This record gives sequence, structure tokens and C-alpha cells, in this order.
Amino acid sequence: MCPNVLQICSPADFHVHLRQGALCELVTPHVRTGGFTLAYVMPNLKPPITTTDQALAYKAELEKIDPDVEYLMTLYLSPDLTPDEIRKAKKAGIVGVKSYPRGVTTNSDGGIESYEAYYPVFEAMQEVDMVLNLHGEVPSDSATNTCVLNAEPTFLPHLFKLHVRFPALRIVLEHATTRAAVEAVKSLGPTVACTITAHHLAITVDDWAGQAWNYCKPVAKFPDDREALREVFFLGSDSAPHPPHTKSTSTPKDPCAAGVYTSPILLPLVAQLLESFSATDKLENFVSGFGRRFYKRDVDPAGPVKTVMLRKVVGQKIAEEWILGDQSVVPFWAGKELEWEIAK
Ligand code: NCD
Ligand code: DOR
Ligand code: ZN
Ligand code: ZN
Repeated sequence: MCPNVLQICSPADFHVHLRQGALCELVTPHVRTGGFTLAYVMPNLKPPITTTDQALAYKAELEKIDPDVEYLMTLYLSPDLTPDEIRKAKKAGIVGVKSYPRGVTTNSDGGIESYEAYYPVFEAMQEVDMVLNLHGEVPSDSATNTCVLNAEPTFLPHLFKLHVRFPALRIVLEHATTRAAVEAVKSLGPTVACTITAHHLAITVDDWAGQAWNYCKPVAKFPDDREALREVFFLGSDSAPHPPHTKSTSTPKDPCAAGVYTSPILLPLVAQLLESFSATDKLENFVSGFGRRFYKRDVDPAGPVKTVMLRKVVGQKIAEEWILGDQSVVPFWAGKELEWEIAK
């Protein structure tokens, strides 16, 4: 039985890049266009969001653009971050801290090289119950035979070590792309989770090798890895807009920007993907229930429940681009047919 209508309770995207300036004005409204009412916002701006005050100022900007989304804010792990700042952040309602290994992806030049220096910060996070969001890849290194294809499995020992040292710290391995990562996370109990993107449920190496629009970090892996992601934990789209010229051209000095943009089509896209492997019954938990429970953001049954309705549609094509002023973004699956739409 294939339903033609689906009702989803308060969809939440637990990993999204909303950028800054004019691009932020273009992409922030797309959170709701894509069916979502909660956005867990990444801090890799230029300069990165490293303090409570910066995060609150950024949140105010986002609320000015679209006040009808709940923005959960994060800090960028850096040597500036202290246990005191963690306590201040917690009091201000900031939810997590994102760690980027140095140089691995967009705006990660300020990222971490070793975790041990951050143990006092993690200790404070564990104490006040903040979430550690890991970009789980190690930098490429020919000396150790590491490259984008094994950067995530090679990272997993760090995850185990962090969890053993901080068993009560809630850790999210962001945008998991491998069977190895899924199995690691499953073995570590309720304080460790992973987010899964929509695009990694769709693509494999063949889809980004030579196709820059599908190129992101971590790169999509093998069909068997994609299969493992279908067990579905919870959604963090990692929707990551870049100006088209940075995606469509590259030079040895300026390689193609990493990031796939899914925000404006997110809920219909996820519905279509889950339906394609007969998992429509898991949709609500994937886009709402599981993530909300992990983040302790359960929908209050007494409060306003923002139900989103999806319905089947025929002949609907995904836009080739979205434009505002002099900014534009090209979405994932541009021009392709999308079989679900959000009912207004
Ligand atoms: C160290 C390790 O794994 O031994 N990692 C590192 O980045 N040098 C320490 C750690 O992971 O905490
Ligand atoms: O592909 C990616 N793009 N991966 C990341 O981790 C960062 C993101 C971005 O900010 O563009
Ligand atoms: Zn990341
Ligand atoms: Zn990201």
C-alpha cells in the first residue's frame, strides 16, 4: 500500500548551514520551504562562531529573516573556547559544539588537530549537558594511506576514545557515510548518535566523481555503505549552499566547493528516498522523533504541534536554481522529478 498523503509532526533538521550576509537571506527561508520548523545551525562562518555572544547575534539575524523557525545554535570548537564559555553558552541556550578537523572541509582551517587539548572543554560540556557534534574525518595523508574514501573509518578510533573518556557526553557523529561508522555508533549506546543526510541516502562515489554538484564532505561512499545508512538514525541534512561558480569551476588552487544543497526540497526528497527503499513508515521518526528525543526537544503534546502534510504529485520538477538579488543557489537533483510536495 502506497499512501498518497503523509502527515509529519514538527520536522527538525539537525544539521544545516545557513551562512551569512546575502546568501543567508536567500537560504534561510528555505528551511520552511523544505518543510522544516527546527534548524540546528552550523557555526562555520567567516569568521567562525566561537563565542556565545556571536552565536546569539547570529541567531537574532536568522530570526529577523524567518522568525517561524526554531534555531538551535552551535559553537565552533577552537582554542578560544573555555569551560567558562561553555557554561555561559549553556545558560544562553546554545545547544552544541561542532568540531572540524583542520582543513578537511569548508571553512575548517581553524579546526582541531588533537582532541586532548579540549578535554577540559568536553568535561564542562558533559557536566552541563551540551552536545558535541563531530565532523568525523581525518585529513588526507599519503604517509598513512588516508584519503577521502577512508577518512571517516580512520576517524572512528577518536570517537571510541572520546566516548570512553566522556561516557555521559552526548556525541553526534555528523553526516555518517559508511557502514563502519553506523556500526560504531550502534555499538556505543544511547549517548552517541549519528545524523544521516538526504543526499547520502541517494548517491555513491559514481555520482560525485566528475559531477561537482554532488560533491560534498564527507564524500558519498560505496553502495554497501549507502545501504547501511538506510537503517536511518535521524536527519541532519548538511544542506550546504555555495555560489554556483565555486561549484562549477575548479583550479588546482581553488578546488570545487564541497556541499550539496537540499534545504528547499528536503522533506519531499526524504519522503521519496525512504519510499524508494520501502521505509515510508520510518519517515516521521527519521525527520522528527529520533532526533528530537536525542536532543531532548520532544514536541510538547500540550503545545502547538506544527504538522506538515505531504502529498503525491505527478510531473513536478525541481527548480534549476533559486535566486535572490545577486545571489543564487543550485539545488540537489536540479531539474529532476520530485514525487512529493508540501500541501499548503
Ligand atoms: C589523539 C589520539 O587519538 O590518540 N588524537 C589526536 O587527534 N591526536 C587524542 C584523541 O583523539 O583524543
Ligand atoms: O560538504 C560539506 N559542506 N561538508 C561540510 O562539512 C561543510 C559543508 C559546508 O559548510 O559547505
Ligand atoms: Zn561536517
Ligand atoms: Zn555540515
